[in-house]
Amino acid sequence: MTSDRTAPARRFYIKTYGCQMNLRDSDSAAALLIEHGWTPADGEADADLVILNTCSVRDQAERKAVGKLGFLGKLKRERPWMIFGIMGCMAQNRGAELLKSIRHLDFVIGTGQIHRIPEVVDEVEENRVKRACLEHGSATDHGIDAHRFDGAESPHSAFVSIMRGCSRYCSYCIVPFVRGPEISRPMDSILAECRMLAEHGVPEIFLLGQNVSAYGLDNTAPPPDDAPSPFACLLRAIAEIDGVRRIRFTSPHPAYFTQALIDAFTQTEKVCKYVHLPLQSGSNRILKLMNRPYDTAKYLSIADRMKERCPEMSFSTDVIVGFPTETEADFQATRELMDRVGFDNAYIFKYSPRSGTRSAQTMPDDVPQEVKEERNQILLADLERRAGDANRKLIGRTFELLVEGPSKRNAARWSGRTDTFKQAVFTPDPENPVESGDFVRVKIVRATPTTLYGKLVADEA
Ligand code: 5AD
Ligand code: SF4
Repeated sequence: MTSDRTAPARRFYIKTYGCQMNLRDSDSAAALLIEHGWTPADGEADADLVILNTCSVRDQAERKAVGKLGFLGKLKRERPWMIFGIMGCMAQNRGAELLKSIRHLDFVIGTGQIHRIPEVVDEVEENRVKRACLEHGSATDHGIDAHRFDGAESPHSAFVSIMRGCSRYCSYCIVPFVRGPEISRPMDSILAECRMLAEHGVPEIFLLGQNVSAYGLDNTAPPPDDAPSPFACLLRAIAEIDGVRRIRFTSPHPAYFTQALIDAFTQTEKVCKYVHLPLQSGSNRILKLMNRPYDTAKYLSIADRMKERCPEMSFSTDVIVGFPTETEADFQATRELMDRVGFDNAYIFKYSPRSGTRSAQTMPDDVPQEVKEERNQILLADLERRAGDANRKLIGRTFELLVEGPSKRNAARWSGRTDTFKQAVFTPDPENPVESGDFVRVKIVRATPTTLYGKLVADEA
């Protein structure tokens, strides 16, 4: 009987591709497996169960996961008892086909069925059958709030999903097809999860959703600028929780970014002064083709109102280059807008047609690959120059950092984040060791486009 809890611990490994929602889903899945007697493995080679949490947003992400699946087939020949499954967007999108065509794939779990992973794994293990669970779930399914706290240590930051799915149907995007329509979690359930995290000593809450600014407005068109914002109420309610010190979120949609949200954002001290607000393009013609219901004036007005209230506000964004019919003039409009907003960070994507989406069905992928690459490089170079200039201006200033852990490059140094999400590195005082989750104050002495370097300063308190 494979579910015998006295048997040697069965070990699992989850490899995650894609966005923060996938990282969060992997964490929920891991917590559920641990609850069912599984133990985390260090890698796929010493695991009895391997799950790939996949992404479909761009073709490249799917290709990576398919390559990995091939490699796992070789591993299974050496360790035939292993169980392989896929979850996430590619599982939802192509799971049934992959389950049939890949012999060593045992199960596929859709984006709304994560809570069923332990049961499905047991069934595969006991009966050696292939299983597919691809129905869309509800936002309150068991598991959405499952977290793992390894040993005594709590993470410095925890993701909290506040909604599932997306109903925006941007013309290039596969997410509404693979994650289903927007469903918001009830506020009570989100607040209970945040309280539980605070009680475990987690200082930072990172709220997640495909369109968080539409929280509680499920499936409605963009509201007028003076409409009430359930998301703003949620931010204010989380800020009331003792022990929560910082609140972050991703991603809001500009068309749902109302004045009430700007007010909550800029008036609530615990809400970090960093916003990742996907722009996608700085050309109004392209925004229309993308089915993004805002124009550049609206985007700029949001950025200006936030900066007016809070000059320190740091902006980040997503941009797609090479969308069908994008001309040099459209691209230059994007460059100019990015400069005007002064983004500190940006994720630049080369347009990748996704089957089933409106742009793939009705628009030719007519910007040559080399032009997409060139535009990508130009935006990255602009960004580096701008971020370098902005970071250099911070030399001499003192910031409070939330300590994340030892720096990846040099373990003698530690790394943390400012309120504005800038990474800063410092050398801890050997007399007063720091831990992940602590807050320290540092004075910036050096800066590169990606990192600040600081010296600890004594707390004035
Ligand atoms: N091609 C390129 N980039 C895309 N994104 C979403 N779909 C595509 C696509 N088909 C980008 C968008 C989105 C981010 C998560 O991925 O910029 O905000
Ligand atoms: Fe995709 Fe648009 Fe929804 Fe974002 S808002 S997930 S880009 S459809």
